[in-house]
Amino acid sequence: MPALSVRHLLGIKYLNEQDIQLIFETADQFKEVINRSIKKVPSLRDITIANIFFENSTRTKLSFELAEKRLSADVLNFSASQSSVKKGETLIDTVNNILSMKVDMVVMRHPNPGAGIFLSKHVKASIINAGDGAHEHPTQALLDSYSIREKLGDVAGKKVIIVGDILHSRVALSNIFALKLQGAKVKVCGPKTLIPKHIESLGVEVEPDLRKALAWCDVANMLRVQNERMEMSYFPTTREYTQQYGINKEILESLDKEIVIMHPGPINRGVEITSDVADSSQSIILHQVENGVAIRMAVIYLLASQLN
Ligand code: CP
Repeated sequence: MPALSVRHLLGIKYLNEQDIQLIFETADQFKEVINRSIKKVPSLRDITIANIFFENSTRTKLSFELAEKRLSADVLNFSASQSSVKKGETLIDTVNNILSMKVDMVVMRHPNPGAGIFLSKHVKASIINAGDGAHEHPTQALLDSYSIREKLGDVAGKKVIIVGDILHSRVALSNIFALKLQGAKVKVCGPKTLIPKHIESLGVEVEPDLRKALAWCDVANMLRVQNERMEMSYFPTTREYTQQYGINKEILESLDKEIVIMHPGPINRGVEITSDVADSSQSIILHQVENGVAIRMAVIYLLASQLN
């Protein structure tokens, strides 16, 4: 059976192109399963997975839980805000206590960049990074590329613009790694203060003008402004941000082609994207969420097959 080149999913940075194709081919099979009337397979009946979330989440948390249940794994859900972390318990103690209950795999979201990498060096379980600070969000990037492949047939050669708060975005970094691995052309667009210095070293171009960026691209991935990660003002006002970097129906209709609109969620309606665009036929936002379950089933299944 083909296998991933990694034992953990800590970031797209650690995957190769074959890993991504294997995840997509496996997700194709699981997508077929979850569209059947019986949406469950017995593949992981012997596996226990802990979802430990130190940060809020709607899509990722529910999607992982559903993926695990569709694979018949036993599932433990842990939310730091209701746990002994509040009494000062460390990350390693927390996870080792969970693992002593014979847990095989840990899905973790944490505010600190590198938290998953740190954990993978200290505990005996397969770790999946469900978002670590402003570092990586690998399953989001996989489901994003998978959704582009589904909509446009392929990712290779496609022109993708990532718009908004690139500086604080784990979604942007993981998407850049994933898209470049698959041969897409990638540009980023946003206020200069929210574009990391030296981003060109990742093989992407900076296009400061949103209208030019949209005229160039096949796909626009609109990111949320991450106010919770900003300790200072990066642009004068939200209104000015929206005027320069927000997408609306009038801008879309001024283009001489139909581009695909994506957003990882949660959406700030009326800030980076208006409702008429988010809910339009060009938007694949809810398809991204749907595909997240099949992608996470694939990742969990492939990593579980390497457990000993
Ligand atoms: N896209 C994403 O990570 O959403 P959540 O924060 O709701 O999980």
